[in-house]
Amino acid sequence: ASAPTRDDKFSFGLWTVGYNGTDPFGGPTRHPLDVVHVVEKLDELGAYGLTFHDDDLFAFGSTDAERQTQIDRLKGALEATGIIVPMVTTNLFSAPVFKDGGFTSNDRQVRRFALRKVLRNIDLAAELGAKTFVMWGGREGAEYDAAKDIRSALERYREAVNLLGDYVTDKGYDLRFAIEPKPNEPRGDILLPTLGHALAFIETLERPELVGINPEVGHEQMAGLNFAAGIAQALYQGKLFHIDLNGQRGIKYDQDLVFGHGDLYNAFALVDLLENGSPQGGPTYEGPRHFDYKPSRTEDETGVWDSAKANMANYLILKERAAAFRADPEVQEALESAKVNELGQPTLNEGESYDDLLADRSAFEDFDADSYLGGHGFGFVRLQQLATGHLLGAR
Ligand code: GCO
Ligand code: MN
Ligand code: MN
Ligand code: MN
Repeated sequence: ASAPTRDDKFSFGLWTVGYNGTDPFGGPTRHPLDVVHVVEKLDELGAYGLTFHDDDLFAFGSTDAERQTQIDRLKGALEATGIIVPMVTTNLFSAPVFKDGGFTSNDRQVRRFALRKVLRNIDLAAELGAKTFVMWGGREGAEYDAAKDIRSALERYREAVNLLGDYVTDKGYDLRFAIEPKPNEPRGDILLPTLGHALAFIETLERPELVGINPEVGHEQMAGLNFAAGIAQALYQGKLFHIDLNGQRGIKYDQDLVFGHGDLYNAFALVDLLENGSPQGGPTYEGPRHFDYKPSRTEDETGVWDSAKANMANYLILKERAAAFRADPEVQEALESAKVNELGQPTLNEGESYDDLLADRSAFEDFDADSYLGGHGFGFVRLQQLATGHLLGAR
């Protein structure tokens, strides 16, 4: 595949390449990376965007002057390179004050503090021209059922997001929100654990049009769900505002591997969907291809940049493979005989009522349902084998 360019819209979190290797069992294995260096490297590697949490750029508890110094250093690097900030997010999880959550902490003072922290960061997001504001509520949850009144917590979540919607509207900011689901970690159970929960929650808000989702590959897979299928539903509902690409191998702790280093089949289906839409067309994804991964703890800085490159390379390889899959006449024929396109056809005829359906003998009385024993195979296995051939570069 070709080398990444800005048109590919690859972006990285400052906390991703900047991850120092700390885990629950041990301290850092790498030195911190300075934001100016990160912007320069991303530019060199062909990315177009940097995203960050407030606390990635300036430590929690920084003075106003320290905060401003870091913002100015970032702005300088952006100007020098042309790298943009498509998304900003707020850290409501690292500081001790957030151990029971931000928007949904049982402690009301903490909730008020969390809102102030987010409002301040929304101003910064708007100032930097970000179009999406991500909300990952990693600490919004509980370990014990008696510890959290889930309905009150959802009510407080609503209250918070409604307030933020009022704020950006009144300020005239061109900024939309994206909720990022995750089933668990760091909390035993996190609120809005899957993209489906988040989509349902969004419909209860006062300004649902301002709020979409930022699904992360590994997070849905930690819940055993099919990520590409979830993304198809998010696109169908017009709610895919942003995406976190990475890799995960099965139902276990959040691995945040390089994109493509987890469930490769699903990554292939995902890139095909994002780039080409459904087999019948339908919306593709136009936003940033954002990598939210963690360079493995075994790596030095060379390994960090190798892993950043691997994310982009895998996306581009899969994009190429997906195009070859779509263009293959045998695939087209297999899709046809698998009736994949027939699903696009409404089940009723135009204007047909249930009375008409009830009167249609061919739909029931004369329909030979028994012929489906031993006949009418879909050929899905053959189709999957063709996909496998393309994925492996053997076709
Ligand atoms: C995770 C999450 C986080 C969030 C990020 C944005 O891996 O648990 O993806 O990395 O995406 O912190 O708030
Ligand atoms: Mn993750
Ligand atoms: Mn994420
Ligand atoms: Mn992450």
